[in-house]
Amino acid sequence: MKLDVLLGLQWGDEGKGKAVDFLTPQYDVIARFQGGPNAGHSLEFNGMKHVLHTIPSGIFHPEKINIIGNGVVIDPVVFRKEIEALQARGVDLKNLYISRKAHLILPTHRLLDAASEASKGISKIGSTLKGIGPTYMDKTGRNGLRVGDIFTSDFEAHYRQLRDKHLNMLKQYDYPAEYEQEEKTWFEAIGVLKTFTVLDSEYAINKYLTENKSILAEGAQGTMLDIDFGSYPFVTSSNTVCAGTCTGLGVAPSHIGKVYGIVKAYCTRVGSGPFPTELLDATGEELRKKGNEYGSTTGRPRRCGWLDLPALKYSIMINGVTSLIMTKADVLSGFDTIKACTRYKVDGRVTDRVPFDVNAKVEPVYTEMKGWSNDITGTSSFDSLPAELKEYVAFIEKETGVPFQIISVSPDREKTIIK
Ligand code: GDP
Ligand code: IMO
Ligand code: MG
Repeated sequence: MKLDVLLGLQWGDEGKGKAVDFLTPQYDVIARFQGGPNAGHSLEFNGMKHVLHTIPSGIFHPEKINIIGNGVVIDPVVFRKEIEALQARGVDLKNLYISRKAHLILPTHRLLDAASEASKGISKIGSTLKGIGPTYMDKTGRNGLRVGDIFTSDFEAHYRQLRDKHLNMLKQYDYPAEYEQEEKTWFEAIGVLKTFTVLDSEYAINKYLTENKSILAEGAQGTMLDIDFGSYPFVTSSNTVCAGTCTGLGVAPSHIGKVYGIVKAYCTRVGSGPFPTELLDATGEELRKKGNEYGSTTGRPRRCGWLDLPALKYSIMINGVTSLIMTKADVLSGFDTIKACTRYKVDGRVTDRVPFDVNAKVEPVYTEMKGWSNDITGTSSFDSLPAELKEYVAFIEKETGVPFQIISVSPDREKTIIK
């Protein structure tokens, strides 16, 4: 059996939560492979909206196994809040498993994140300030604490050692280190984490594969935020791309099956960094308003712009995408003209490559298409969609060489069209 992957092809917030929740009935296991509480994955059904940060988006199907993989970084306090919110809604969590090798976000990791951003001034990354960067730094620096460590007798001593290292670093930043109250809350949350099934998830996942169980790996963030292939340094600190599934779950590349790449019908980005098609005008404002483009984790307004095909093709190449999913097609209803950037003009030269230099002056070259005015949120078949939208879909398929399989026309689980 192969493991399928679903990941974002833009700058995050493409609608991964909704898509994973929609696809979960087809799978036995859903597994998150990277990122942490910087993610905010929203899903809606039966008039209820839920935002998940650490927990896989298959959790509303209690008979399915949901795994937080070794590549994820966990803040026990955020995890506890998520758990309590799910329990308040009566969600059964007995099939939620956590990797022993997932790293822990300490209260001082969050302080270091804030101190680092404050020290950067206007060149700040625009981090979600959840402690992601400092935690992955401790992981690769071989100083981190892992979920498996919480069961050892010297856990508190190891915690203090790492915390004290952070406190010294905060002194160098000249950043206030108020951690005592948070530390108390953190240890209480560790107590909650201990009540869950903690396991060697790499063994579990490979066993499921030999048992012919179907697995969907859920990405966080998006390809353009990948630590290696994104717009560095305006990126997150993990590999958000398909290869991250192998290291973040312990799955061999030969076991990867389908790769679903999810795209918004336009682009958004939250935080700093290049965004060639960004619209700083009334059209951008209209996209933000109609698309309700405010961060699921931080509430920050998202930057909005037209679809960026050079970036999309790049993401498809890096991930080996086999099927595309489009979300928020409904948000484009009512625009007379829809634009898609097909190439960039960089220093007067036309190219379809994403430039290395994040400071390069990139001017988008657009193709214009006719828009549609119908409200499509009630449409349930691809054939009934407006001709202009079908043309837009066909245009992207032709440019990228990858077919769309799903078109989403509303946040609601039910409002999803299979092509
Ligand atoms: P994720 O991080 O990729 O899971 O995406 P987010 O949840 O952060 O952001 C996507 C937002 O778009 C959420 O508020 C979703 O409820 C919403 N959404 C998803 N699909 C659609 C869609 O097809 N149409 C509309 N209007 N909203 C959608
Ligand atoms: P989901 O999974 C959108 C962005 C931040 C910032 C940069 C680094 O919901 O799509 P970090 O906190 O990782 O140090 O922030 O990455 N970012 C996201 N943007 N969606 C996300 O996750 C994001 N996670 C991080 O805004 O620019
Ligand atoms: Mg999100």
